[in-house]
Amino acid sequence: MEIKGNVHYVGVNDRNKTLFENLWPLPYGVSYNSYLIDDEKVALVDTVDVCFFELYLKKIRSVIGDRPIDYLIVNHMEPDHSGAISLIKQYYPNVVIVGNKKTFEMIEGYYGVGGDRLVVTDGGTLSLGKHQLNFALVPMVHWPETMVTYDATEKILFSGDAFGCFGALNGGVVDTAINTDIYWDEMRRYYSNIVGKYGAPVQKALQKLKGLDIQMICATHGPVWTAEIPRVIDIYDRLSRYQAEEGVVVAYGTMYGNTEEMAETIAEELSRQGIRNIVMHNVSRTHHSHIIADVFKYKGLIVGCPTYNTQMYPEMESLLSKLAARDIKGRYLGWFGSFTWAGAAVKKIAEFNERLKFEAVGTPVEMKQGMKADIAALSRELAVAMADRLKADRE
Ligand code: FEO
Repeated sequence: MEIKGNVHYVGVNDRNKTLFENLWPLPYGVSYNSYLIDDEKVALVDTVDVCFFELYLKKIRSVIGDRPIDYLIVNHMEPDHSGAISLIKQYYPNVVIVGNKKTFEMIEGYYGVGGDRLVVTDGGTLSLGKHQLNFALVPMVHWPETMVTYDATEKILFSGDAFGCFGALNGGVVDTAINTDIYWDEMRRYYSNIVGKYGAPVQKALQKLKGLDIQMICATHGPVWTAEIPRVIDIYDRLSRYQAEEGVVVAYGTMYGNTEEMAETIAEELSRQGIRNIVMHNVSRTHHSHIIADVFKYKGLIVGCPTYNTQMYPEMESLLSKLAARDIKGRYLGWFGSFTWAGAAVKKIAEFNERLKFEAVGTPVEMKQGMKADIAALSRELAVAMADRLKADRE
């Protein structure tokens, strides 16, 4: 499928995998994008998950027939993109692999592949004939070796994981040819779960790419962006600055509904206080990838859970660990908990906030056994404190 000036899409869709990285659900599947530049010299940009190699090879051959591939450009070494390198090398033994110093360390480590190579540095160039390629290193977007390739002739940025999203491609590839509705939430979930920790490197990369005339973004996952480029860059910019909207995520664990009653009371009061964006998640039921994405979206977070084996409820501990691993900045945190004979959850959440480093809001509420009027009143006070903190940012 030609997408622009002899640049062909040769990626594949994965609608079989249930969990990306064996962690993150894929309700709409995922695409592994690869691109073939058919010039005097033929260049392949990134590969696909090795499970799809037969189909991938067929797609490559449908463009170049029996002609050889001259260069394989490796923007990113994570195996969802590098997985087919050794097979490409077997089918095209004379291919020159293009990467930076760190790329080749990883190629050796993963695949033990040698042969001809072109080691590029930041600002390096490569001419394919008509297409002039420039390379820029963008470490930690999302691994240390990541780089992007800019086709100065066609004004295309081959961006690796940057600007990518979950969601397989349904028929068309370019944003103007498809309905893109499903991709926006999946972009936030993809970014927050996969790249979320690396806000500063993403910001650095955005600054680096600022001066480029980019008419097309070819990421390794999701649609090829053209008309939607401003929206896509804006989403990545806001997420990597941890910028959030007014709203509260209420995430709770519950065994028999008592702690859930506290969560409901808090949410009702938030609504009464004029907070419109309230998202409630039962941490045992909602996959944490969705909760993480919502924490990236909204400024307020209120968490609560029962005490379990004198610790925090395990699913809450798991969620908070995932959040802490992402170094999310600028969030407000309120919390509550419950116990039957010895309280621990509230104390443990407070201790956990030393890792999260969120701004503590309100007074934590601890409930013994079932809901009573005084606990309901304290729960409402917690909600009012969160609403007031959010409203203070309106001015
Ligand atoms: Fe899609 Fe970081 O690999």
